[in-house]
Amino acid sequence: TPLENIRNFSIVAHIDHGKSTLADRLIQSTKTVADRDMKEQMLDSMDIERERGITIKAQTVRINYTADDGQDYVLNLIDTPGHVDFAYEVSRSMRAVEGSLLVVDSTQGVEAQTLANVYHAIDADHEIVPVLNKIDLPAADCDRVAEQIEDVIGIDASEAIRVSAKTGIGIKETLEAIVTRLPAPKGSLDAPLKAMLVDSWYDSYLGVIVLVRIMDGQLKKGDRVRMMQNGSVHHVDRIGVFRPAMTEIDVLGPGEIGFLTASIKQVRDTRVGDTITHEKKGTDKALPGFKPAQPVVFCGLFPVDAAEFEDLRDSIEKLALNDASFSFEMETSAALGFGFRCGFLGLLHLEVIRDRIEREYDIDLITTAPSVIYDIHMKDGTVEQLHNPADMPDLTYVDHIEEPRIKATILVPDEYLGDVLKLCQDRRGMQLDLTYAGSRAMVVYDLPLNEVVFDFYDRLKSVTKGYASFDYAMIGYRTDALVKMSILVNDEPVDALSTMVHRDRAETRGRAMVEKLKDLIPRHMFKIPIQAAIGGKVIARETLSAMRKDVTAKCYGGDATRKKKLLEKQKAGKKKMRQFGKVDIPQEAFISALKMD
Ligand code: GTP
Repeated sequence: TPLENIRNFSIVAHIDHGKSTLADRLIQSTKTVADRDMKEQMLDSMDIERERGITIKAQTVRINYTADDGQDYVLNLIDTPGHVDFAYEVSRSMRAVEGSLLVVDSTQGVEAQTLANVYHAIDADHEIVPVLNKIDLPAADCDRVAEQIEDVIGIDASEAIRVSAKTGIGIKETLEAIVTRLPAPKGSLDAPLKAMLVDSWYDSYLGVIVLVRIMDGQLKKGDRVRMMQNGSVHHVDRIGVFRPAMTEIDVLGPGEIGFLTASIKQVRDTRVGDTITHEKKGTDKALPGFKPAQPVVFCGLFPVDAAEFEDLRDSIEKLALNDASFSFEMETSAALGFGFRCGFLGLLHLEVIRDRIEREYDIDLITTAPSVIYDIHMKDGTVEQLHNPADMPDLTYVDHIEEPRIKATILVPDEYLGDVLKLCQDRRGMQLDLTYAGSRAMVVYDLPLNEVVFDFYDRLKSVTKGYASFDYAMIGYRTDALVKMSILVNDEPVDALSTMVHRDRAETRGRAMVEKLKDLIPRHMFKIPIQAAIGGKVIARETLSAMRKDVTAKCYGGDATRKKKLLEKQKAGKKKMRQFGKVDIPQEAFISALKMD
């Protein structure tokens, strides 16, 4: 395809503003997929993505469109994740395209992730076409939202397209705008091959699939190519495009987006952002690379049944094949036995991986408290990175502890502002800015990441009845008075429940945790003390009294099936518990105990 007839674009939006629905409609109205094969959310391929309605990996589709000018165009859409944990993936896929559709829900207006994502598009020098979606709804207020886009984002919204991705209004106008308002890609057919490695993932039939954007030159099936970062050479055995199903073709030219396979074994052998060129007569000028995404949240994953450790290893290794931002290493815990310490981009990423292990590999897991990375400055001048509170060195050798901080941007309707400020204040936040965007406040806070990783987002949603939106970026480390708090159940420390807390909050947190644990741990035949301690000092204590009756007693003896069912249920419940000394602690205790109210 000649360059003038190609348009490459992405869609940026806040979660739920209709990005996937719009993508579906563009695919459907251009007959890219026959109506009978059309299912909702074409681009969200993983089950979990579909269920949770979130897009995680970048997905691509090539759309053929005959425009009003009579010419045939190829439109390549790269769909990017909308969630804050995956901001990094958004920013890198943006570098592969020239323009963006900025989708804003016309009943809601600009949200925190609209801002974060549109800034990625602006950084990538995109031409941006604003799209006001959901105009079929009575609450749509296009004029107000257009004005807000101009005020808050600072881009011209006078020609924003009014769309209902649901009913199909404005879809034709959107396709025309892509052709007339977004620039064609640049590139040279005769120059040496320069292809950007945009993404890669593992496919059980084809091995590693590499998503590429051709900047210059041509890529053909059978070519020998070199990855410029590590110099490895590969024989290209397939190239093709996504319609959105993978379709093989013979050649990809400048400006085009497609895939290649080359018998590559592991996703780790492909560096996102790398430049791919020909082995012979290749370019010697690599594209500017991207920084790899760093995990920021760590937690331990342990099998409930110790016999499943090898299965867990297997599942983690398989998942890591496909996700270079997910890190893991083996860990042993006195309480939980063998498991893995894993690193994630954020909490959603953690949940997604945990769900996939439980669901796709059928392994029951105990997840320990998520932790961030602390810099422990030792008295001898060395710095240790602490990923796991259980490994906290002896305090006599510690000079000071630094913790990671984030800059959080929150957009919230005025009436909930007070609650949001209180929440941020309670989480040791420092207010950086407070401005208004129409009737909504935009607050910027400097917050410790460890106060956010756990349940900040849930709390924010609940105090604002779901009206707040949130986005964050890491800003660096700062010293604070942090201590390690241990939990003892029946006088045995449960290392998996150790957490780092601020000294001033230790008592409140400790009390809350032991109270929660008292409710979460079932009664046993004996009394169980539950304590929180810092160093050797107990700061909170509860006692779980001994059990009196047999659970089956209430079944009046008669109904044998009911009794059996109850015992079975009890057994299933047991399966999700682990023994600590003489005490069974249910799996959910490890997460629930840490939630703050
Ligand atoms: P993520 O994939 O989570 O980022 O969300 P998204 O931005 O892709 O939103 P999605 O397309 O899943 O739409 C969110 C919800 O809005 C869905 O329930 C859609 O059916 C609905 N929706 C999308 N477009 C329209 C529209 O034009 N009108 C109406 N009434 N509802 C819409």
